[in-house]
Amino acid sequence: MTQYNNTRLLQALKRQPVDVPPVWLMRQAGRYLPEYRALRTKAGDFLTLCQTPQLATEITLQPLRRFDLDAAILFSDILTIPHAMGLGLSFQEGEGPQFAKRIETARDVKALPILEVEENLDYVLEAVRMIQQELQGRVPLIGFAGSPWTVACYMIEGSSHKNFINARKMAYQAPEVLTALLEKLITATTAYLKGQILAGVDVVMLFDTWGGLLTPAHYPLFSLTPMQKIITNLKADPNTANTPIILFSKGAVSHLEVMADSGADALGLDWTSALSAARTRVGAKVCVQGNLDPALLFSTPEKIKAAVKSVLNEWGPHPGLIVNLGHGIEQHTPIENVQALIAAVHEG
Ligand code: CP3
Repeated sequence: MTQYNNTRLLQALKRQPVDVPPVWLMRQAGRYLPEYRALRTKAGDFLTLCQTPQLATEITLQPLRRFDLDAAILFSDILTIPHAMGLGLSFQEGEGPQFAKRIETARDVKALPILEVEENLDYVLEAVRMIQQELQGRVPLIGFAGSPWTVACYMIEGSSHKNFINARKMAYQAPEVLTALLEKLITATTAYLKGQILAGVDVVMLFDTWGGLLTPAHYPLFSLTPMQKIITNLKADPNTANTPIILFSKGAVSHLEVMADSGADALGLDWTSALSAARTRVGAKVCVQGNLDPALLFSTPEKIKAAVKSVLNEWGPHPGLIVNLGHGIEQHTPIENVQALIAAVHEG
């Protein structure tokens, strides 16, 4: 077992008391950091960064060199799974992801190969091992995957879309095709997260960025149930049962109670819902992670300090809070404001 210097995140995930709440930021490694931009320019493109373990390791560590963060998050992407399944992912500068092939029919789903994590995603496992070597127990490492629904959105659409109309249409026109795709992604994601845990990540997070696009009837069917199956699979295997799981369904706060029953250890909240109300609704069942507005980081250190204070006061003395943003940090975020946020959490 790794001995950690900083156990705040792991303690909070067990709802144990901590000196101050742990803080980390979604997309903490990324384009707001000049050292990230320099490496990306040198490497040529984003996928090369993900697929080169030395570079992924370096980028994972970049924000930890600047800030007193309580966790590292693996530098990778949720779209590595469909890429490994042969859909041909690329990222054009200034644009979102683009797939060469997209999923439209039952035949397309059937043709998707079974993911062999050790072969197809070995570069991710290697990055995890290298990062842990470098971290030397300084902070825990978070691994991650996209939720099956969110990854399916990109596979069906073929690229980013503001409301993923083709994936939502499939939920009505061909629910059996969507379900078959989600089943394949449940299997692949379970294997992928197991691989990451065996390679050394300490916590895993499921990013369900597009769960909030679904109707109240479709959310449990197409978003929550597949995530729940992954959680059940991980909790049923003695090798992975003790690894805490964070579930983040953006824009889906109306489903908080059922999420709290999913088996996840923590729930991510976006900035549109209050922490205190969330705590009342989920009680001590799960930890809560969130929920500062990424736009707050474009204000001033004073305003950031006040916002952090109000989050900490609102939450109160209860264990089980992880301070984070309600979504990924934005590209042009001033670095001194990130510093101010982290310092404000640690000053309490
Ligand atoms: O949090 C971290 O620091 C770890 C790294 C991480 C990335 N992507 C790196 C990245 C994580 C956890 C993700 C998850 C991810 N990827 C999600 C879920 C979380 C979320 O933000 O909603 C989604 C939907 C994706 C898919 C994706 N990857 C898109 C739509 C894009 C392009 C648009 C954008 O926001 O940049 C990416 C590219 C991407 N993934 C970048 C980074 C640092 C930017 C690449 C670049 O231009 O250098």
